[in-house]
Amino acid sequence: MDIKHYLEQKRQDVDRFLESIMPAEDARPATLHKAMRYSLFAGGKRVRPILAIAACEAIRGTSPLILPLASTLELIHTYSLIHDDLPAMDNDDYRRGKLTNHKVFGEAMAILAGDALLTMAFDLASRLELVNGLDPRAQVQVIQELAAGSGNVGMVGGQVADIEAEGKDIDPATLERMHRWKTGKLIRASVRIGGIVGGATDRQLDHLTAYAEDIGLAFQIADDVLNIVGTREELGKDANTDASRGKKTYPTFFGVDGSRKLAEERIASAIAHLKDFDRKADPLRELARYITARKN
Ligand code: IPE
Ligand code: IPE
Ligand code: MG
Ligand code: MG
Repeated sequence: MDIKHYLEQKRQDVDRFLESIMPAEDARPATLHKAMRYSLFAGGKRVRPILAIAACEAIRGTSPLILPLASTLELIHTYSLIHDDLPAMDNDDYRRGKLTNHKVFGEAMAILAGDALLTMAFDLASRLELVNGLDPRAQVQVIQELAAGSGNVGMVGGQVADIEAEGKDIDPATLERMHRWKTGKLIRASVRIGGIVGGATDRQLDHLTAYAEDIGLAFQIADDVLNIVGTREELGKDANTDASRGKKTYPTFFGVDGSRKLAEERIASAIAHLKDFDRKADPLRELARYITARKN
């Protein structure tokens, strides 16, 4: 299969859906909606929604049911990036090829735009009319996955570990745990949400979860490597920022080549977890390979 074509098609589906639900720039409160739209439509890869779609397809084939729920992941992810870039956190100036949200709208509005994107995700995920035909119990389970993946025992918990580790002498096991939380948990939620909407059996969901945990760790290792080998033009965000902020990353301990190798091992393990799935899981397999091959 052609993963480039798949990514492009699904990205367009997600963007079309997000455009259909986001208030216009001039809808009140206009400054807030402008700030939310600024970061949401700045050109993210949409990896998390696409993972949810691909996981759903791996179980039941193509289904329109998954698109609204998958798209809520991008609202949460975009909020996490806006807050991650704030001066009190990573203090970054560029994101998705543009100035960061707070550089354009100010810190207060950037915080509020993030808050509103997060809240909007739960509003959408809980609307019955958007998921017509889905068992309401599955919908509640999806909402639970979103909360667990993004909150205190998910992405936010990992961000706490990241901030607390700055300038500290952490060990590789602590770093791995941090990556599994700050980036891995939302990716885990993405894949599980696809599985739940697809009607996965408990056993299938276990395999999908193991796949997701592997690619989630690999995704952040790849992000660490790109921070060193990438350029601002390629990444759409400043390079070489981790070391200057006193962040220990995979290359600190294992070097660029050693980190790439560790990420590749996780990808091979992820794909092995899909051995009982048929051709419908090929997009998931290709997405795993894409995670370490990507240039941004
Ligand atoms: C960047 O995520 C932040 C991490 C969690 C590593 P992505 O690489 O998915 O960023 P976008 O959404 O494409 O901008
Ligand atoms: C981002 O981690 C993780 C989030 C939860 C947003 P990083 O801080 O390493 O990601 P980038 O490099 O800024 O995108
Ligand atoms: Mg960060
Ligand atoms: Mg950052």
